[in-house]
Amino acid sequence: MNPQPDIRRMTLADLDAVVALDRLSFTDPWPYSSWRGMFEDPHARVWVVATSVVEGTPEFVTPHTQKIIGALAVWLILDELHIGTIAVHPDYRRQGLGAALLEMGIRAGLAEGAKVVHLEVRKSNLSAQRLYERFGFKRVGERKRYYSDNREDAVLMSTPVGDEYLRWLDGDRSGTW
Ligand SMILES: CC(C)(COP(=O)(O)OP(=O)(O)OC[C@H]1O[C@@H](n2cnc3c(N)ncnc32)[C@H](O)[C@@H]1OP(=O)(O)O)[C@@H](O)C(=O)NCCC(=O)NCCS
Repeated sequence: MNPQPDIRRMTLADLDAVVALDRLSFTDPWPYSSWRGMFEDPHARVWVVATSVVEGTPEFVTPHTQKIIGALAVWLILDELHIGTIAVHPDYRRQGLGAALLEMGIRAGLAEGAKVVHLEVRKSNLSAQRLYERFGFKRVGERKRYYSDNREDAVLMSTPVGDEYLRWLDGDRSGTW
C-alpha cells in the first residue's frame, strides 16, 4: 500500500515533475523559467503533494521515488498572500488533496502574517471556484479578457484572514466565514 501523500515545500529535485504536472493541468502552463525562478524569488513559496510510486515497500522509499501529484505556488508580499497556481493530477482529484494543499498554503501564510488572500480564476472554472468558496473566498471583481490563450475573463476572489479566520479553520467550519 502506498503511504499517505506528503505535503511539503518544493525542492529543485521536484522541478521537472512540477513543470510536467502544470503542463498536464493547464492550457496556459507556466514556462519552465517561471517555476525555476520561484527558487530565487524571496516572496514565492511553492508546496507540492508527493506520493510514493513504489507499491508495497514503503520502507525503501526515498525522495527520488516520489511522484508529484499536486502543486501550489503563492507569493507573500507584505501582508497579502496571492495564490499563483494550484493543480492536482487528474488521477488524484476529488480526494481532498487540493483542499489540503490550499489549507497548508493559507496556514503558512497566516503564520507569516498574511491578512488577506487574493486569487484570479477562470470564469468557466467552477470546480476551482467551489474549492475557494469552501475556504471562505468571495467574488470581489472581474478582469475582462485576462487569459491570453482564449481571452477568457478572470474572476477575482479574496478573503480576509487573521486570528478569527484561523479559529474558523481550526473549528468545525460551520457557518460561512
Ligand atoms: C481545482 C483542483 C486543484 C481541485 O483539486 P482536488 O484535489 O480535486 O480538490 P478536492 O478534492 O480537495 O476538492 C475540494 C472541494 O473543491 C470543490 N471541487 C473540486 N473539484 C470539483 C469538481 N470537479 N466539481 C465541483 N466541485 C469541485 C468541492 O467543493 C470539493 O469538495 P467536495 O469534494 O467535498 O465536494 C483540481 O481540480 C485541478 O487541479 N484542476 C485543474 C487546475 C485548476 O483549474 N486549478 C485552479 C486554477 S485557479
